Amino acid sequence: QMGGASPCCWGPSPLSPSQQGSGVGDGVLSAFRSICGEEGVSLGEAVREQHGKDESVHRCRPPDVVVFPRCVEEVSALAKVCHKHRLPIIPFGTGTGLEGGVGAVKGGVCFSLRNMEQVLDLHPEDFDVTVEPGVTRKALNAYLRDTGLWFPVDPGADASLCGMAATSASGTNAVRYGTMRENVMNLEVVLADGSIVHTAGKGRRPRKTSAGYNLTNLFVGSEGTLGIITKTTLRLYGIPEAMVSAVCSFPSVQAAVDSTVQTLQAGVPIARIEFLDDVMIDACNRFSSLSYPVTPTLFLEFHGSEQSLQEQVKTAEDITQSNGGSDFQWARDTETRNRLWKARHDAWYAALALRPGCKAYSTDVCVPLSRLPQIIVETKEDLIENRLTGPIAGHVGDGNFHCLMVVDPNNPEEMHRVHLFTERLARRALAMDGTCTGEHGVGLGKRALLCEEMGPVGIQVMRSLKDTLDPNNLMNPGKILQREEP
Ligand SMILES: Cc1cc2nc3c(=O)[nH]c(=O)nc-3n(C[C@H](O)[C@H](O)[C@H](O)COP(=O)(O)OP(=O)(O)OC[C@H]3O[C@@H](n4cnc5c(N)ncnc54)[C@H](O)[C@@H]3O)c2cc1C
Ligand SMILES: *[C@@H]1O[C@H](CO)[C@@H](O)[C@H](O)[C@H]1NC(C)=O
Repeated sequence: QMGGASPCCWGPSPLSPSQQGSGVGDGVLSAFRSICGEEGVSLGEAVREQHGKDESVHRCRPPDVVVFPRCVEEVSALAKVCHKHRLPIIPFGTGTGLEGGVGAVKGGVCFSLRNMEQVLDLHPEDFDVTVEPGVTRKALNAYLRDTGLWFPVDPGADASLCGMAATSASGTNAVRYGTMRENVMNLEVVLADGSIVHTAGKGRRPRKTSAGYNLTNLFVGSEGTLGIITKTTLRLYGIPEAMVSAVCSFPSVQAAVDSTVQTLQAGVPIARIEFLDDVMIDACNRFSSLSYPVTPTLFLEFHGSEQSLQEQVKTAEDITQSNGGSDFQWARDTETRNRLWKARHDAWYAALALRPGCKAYSTDVCVPLSRLPQIIVETKEDLIENRLTGPIAGHVGDGNFHCLMVVDPNNPEEMHRVHLFTERLARRALAMDGTCTGEHGVGLGKRALLCEEMGPVGIQVMRSLKDTLDPNNLMNPGKILQREEP
């Protein structure tokens, strides 16, 4: 048994089979059908399996039934039926999560939100837009194409924007534009009893507010455990006048990370600064047919006016050179730039391609910037000592990096070594005043670490909030917080 007392990501379910299955009876099914139509209710095995897992190594936990509501009224009506019959509710965006968040660990009803895919209120002059939960980040940017505006938060996958709000996602642009936390202005949420709340007041979208508790922030990162997000109002940005990207190679990890820290300390408003270690750049070279030197590397991007770009680039170049970095290799035209960032976004698949047949598990600790060189250097030593494949790719400008652990799921001894490694890494981050998860969330695998991170009083406050909003523990039960089962 892996992991001893702490729940292992990949271990068997903590519940006995008799506790599973929640008995979605015929009465409930016909109530569902009368709400969202025959088409909107699926019991098919393939559909249930598809909705019982995300892109993580957590095993599939299919729900008893999947419903496909078309509007908030249907979501609310369906939730009321679930509430009456005490059925678990699991929201499903696009299933690209990395922490097992959509698994129906207690059975129940998966709410797939993909049929709600309208972009609702675009206010270009105010730089905001409201979208339904089926809209993905790429779909929104395609919709905005001719407006001169864009939404910058960019996880590697084409995730749903409400799913991104639910996990407090970020990506390569966060160092300049912030994460979902900074970019969600309002949410419409269906609570466990079917009631509908607008976290900043219905239709409101001021740039700032001091109006009471920040309910919006409470639901950002709640991973479906407090309610179903049915609309999100997002901040938009003007597409910068000019953008250039560059690649720079370094003699050591320390030199690359020191350059990142110094560039930020110098006040360069860098848009993207991504670190790839030698193993990762090698994997990307192979997967994306590139030919960068196999050494610690930074991918950088600068946004601004032509004039401000010159200044930013000059400072960054001076800093990288003083740390022994190579000359920048430029990607000025859109095609080369896109190729570069596509390679970065494909890092997950590039890592998987290192060992065909294996699965990937991504760590995502985040530490204060000044601690970053030390934690990456120690982590690389740990990987080598323990004979593990874990290319490192990091949003280093935020102090956040991923070890993409490529592991043979059929080799328990190796799985065990990976598990112990990820725990050591998380504890190393906690000891450096950081967090066990910078952007992927807690899901199933980090519940014990969350307790260490928050401490008993913090966890108790989280529990009380959960009990207040969802007294019957119906919303995505078993995620984030561990509950003693009666
Ligand atoms: C190749 C790859 C690269 C990735 N890179 C990044 C990255 O750089 N940064 C990053 O942050 N993440 C990254 N991710 C993880 C993933 O894309 C994000 O976690 C994303 O926010 C998940 O969105 P989703 O719609 O797919 O959510 P899902 O996987 O469907 O769900 C995730 C969780 O949110 C809940 N949820 C989903 N929709 C709603 C809703 N409408 N209301 C309430 N709860 C909801 C679910 O119940 C679940 O707990 C990556 C994933 C992959 C596969
Ligand atoms: C409240 O939280 C949201 C989402 O995290 C954030 O965008 C907003 O700025 C916060 N508001 C205040 C006043 O802090």
